[in-house]
Amino acid sequence: MASGQLSRAGALACSGCRHACHVMLYCDTKTQLFGRIPIRHIILMQMRFDGLLGFPGGYVNPSEETLEAGLSRELLEELGVALPISAEDHVDCCHAPASSPSSTSRLITHFYVKKMEEEQIKEVEKEAASTATDHGQEVLGMVRVPLYNTKNGGGLAPFLSHSFIGNARSQLVDSLLRLDMIAPEELHKALAHSLKIHTHTAEDLQAALTRTEAKRNWF
Ligand code: APR
Ligand code: MG
Repeated sequence: MASGQLSRAGALACSGCRHACHVMLYCDTKTQLFGRIPIRHIILMQMRFDGLLGFPGGYVNPSEETLEAGLSRELLEELGVALPISAEDHVDCCHAPASSPSSTSRLITHFYVKKMEEEQIKEVEKEAASTATDHGQEVLGMVRVPLYNTKNGGGLAPFLSHSFIGNARSQLVDSLLRLDMIAPEELHKALAHSLKIHTHTAEDLQAALTRTEAKRNWF
């Protein structure tokens, strides 16, 4: 078990801890972007109500339901489909990042990965935007993770440079490696480019802040 990770039994034995379960749903695909760039896999993430990217799922109370039943219930709300999740789909669990370095978070996040057929994934996307009760409220929209890198630096690198909830970016990156969805050197290149994008984004934000300050002083 990697450092910082908990066993499932250890996590459930934690008294006073809250639990949240999230899942990465994915499938293989032969689709090509622009008819030439292989998409390879469709991985579903979501733009959350707080403006951060994350995986579908949410709070589960293990004294009232199993982790998997609770996750299925959350998926029905967020995706409009009651997908069955089993204990075999459970990948790992750990304490959520704490608000300060000296404290330990009382929230334990459980991460699941479930492979589906392409048609099922497309059906989930359709329902998530139509029948899901959380659509437009707690979930602003489902997004696919672009796994390719275009010649001018588009694709995975800009996607990874967005803001993610908790450790969702690490959950994504670890899954890409564990499931052999991308070559380690390709992922390394994308992450290095993401860092450069961050620097540019910081400059862009600073310029926007300066413009806003000028307007604020004017009125
Ligand atoms: N890593 C760490 N923490 C995470 C991750 C992650 N990958 N994904 C989500 N979390 C945290 C969130 O910050 C939140 O505190 O897990 C908790 C529960 O996840 P959500 O999906 O946000 O919970 P959900 O049950 O879907 O509902 C959201 O929670 O913040 C409240 O009032 C808000 O009604 C809303 C509800
Ligand atoms: Mg949620």
